[in-house]
Amino acid sequence: MNLNFTEEQAMVRDMVRQFAESEIAPFVEKMEEGQFPRDILKKMGELGLMGMTTPESLGGSGMDFTSYILAINEISRVSATVGVILSVHTSVGTNPILYFGTEEQKKKYVPKLASGEYLGAFCLTEPEAGSDAGALKTRAVKKEDHYVLNGSKVFITNGGEADVYIVFASTSPEKGSKGISAFIVDKDTPGLVIGKNEHKMGLHGSKTVQLTFENMKVPLENLLGTEDAGFKIALANLNAGRIGIAAQALGIAEASLNAATKYAKERVQFGKPIVENQGVGFKLADMATNVEAARLLVYRAADMQSRGIPITKEASMAKLFASRTAVEVSTEAIQIFGGYGYTKEYPVERYFRDAKVTEIYEGTSEIQKIVITKAYPVQKQF
Ligand code: CAA
Repeated sequence: MNLNFTEEQAMVRDMVRQFAESEIAPFVEKMEEGQFPRDILKKMGELGLMGMTTPESLGGSGMDFTSYILAINEISRVSATVGVILSVHTSVGTNPILYFGTEEQKKKYVPKLASGEYLGAFCLTEPEAGSDAGALKTRAVKKEDHYVLNGSKVFITNGGEADVYIVFASTSPEKGSKGISAFIVDKDTPGLVIGKNEHKMGLHGSKTVQLTFENMKVPLENLLGTEDAGFKIALANLNAGRIGIAAQALGIAEASLNAATKYAKERVQFGKPIVENQGVGFKLADMATNVEAARLLVYRAADMQSRGIPITKEASMAKLFASRTAVEVSTEAIQIFGGYGYTKEYPVERYFRDAKVTEIYEGTSEIQKIVITKAYPVQKQF
């Protein structure tokens, strides 16, 4: 395993780091007030960041998966909100069409998604089907030249802002998860009703909405892949999506560690910087070790994905560990900041609020453990 980045990957990392610090950081406060970062996404589109892994022939940047993960990592150090918008847009908003779409579907949607003209969303979760995604109830009934969809979705990231929705619905209810199909739905489709935006603990600039489909007509040509093959499309794209969320968590953990280290060196109590107390120094040592371990898991999974090696288990391990690390490191960062850490004067309370959801979305930590347990015995071990 070689985790040295290539010259091109290092250039991407440095470019995105500079962009995040100069363009995203000044807008963090507005996002905390609930503003969606539309202008930032536009600039990201101009820089080629909204279609990083999309081939150039379809209007993307044609970069490898590791470069994309570096971008999410760097962006999330500054704003986990922009990190998740990019991850959902790419991994589960664009890639299902790129990997499973017909030539016509690809031509129609992918270049606009890659340029950032369109934003993507992924609609799997329902009020009664979260972790048990295969139990979804949204129904799609085939008519002459269209399907009619009825049902509702919850916790849809980018919902209301997105132009294209990948929607999962049951076409053969008697077949359970093997009777689910995937559809491409345009935002202005009659019957697509955007519901309330959730008031979340963190990620305030990202939209998380309920959706309802009321006799929504979807043309037959918007079926993605074959009928009843939708659950596999969802899971296949969630695998790579989970590396994106792991990179987001890594970014939050790194930002927490950096802030806490700086503060511990500056803050003087009992006549010396608090970092000189072993109780604080050892905390930072544990935090740094966990961040480094998370980094190794994230970039190993990214490197494998770049090389086309199956990553189901490695993606789940990276997400499980990086999200846990983000929560633990941001919690410890608040402890090191003491009372100031509990205020909005410093960013660590935001890191803590943003970190928690990385243990929940794109599969909870418990779901990642199920995936790892199922995969482990059948895959080659060291
Ligand atoms: N990759 C590819 N294939 C997979 C897979 C994976 N990760 N996990 C399972 N499969 C395959 C299985 O091999 C099986 O295939 P066969 O029928 O050919 O054997 C098929 O899919 C069904 O698998 P299971 O029988 O294991 O399915 P299940 O219904 O018992 O549940 C699960 C599997 C892993 C628990 C799955 O339901 C799951 O991942 N749940 C979590 C859902 C989730 O991650 N939701 C995220 C919502 S999107 C989101 O959060 C985005 C956002 O806004 C940020």
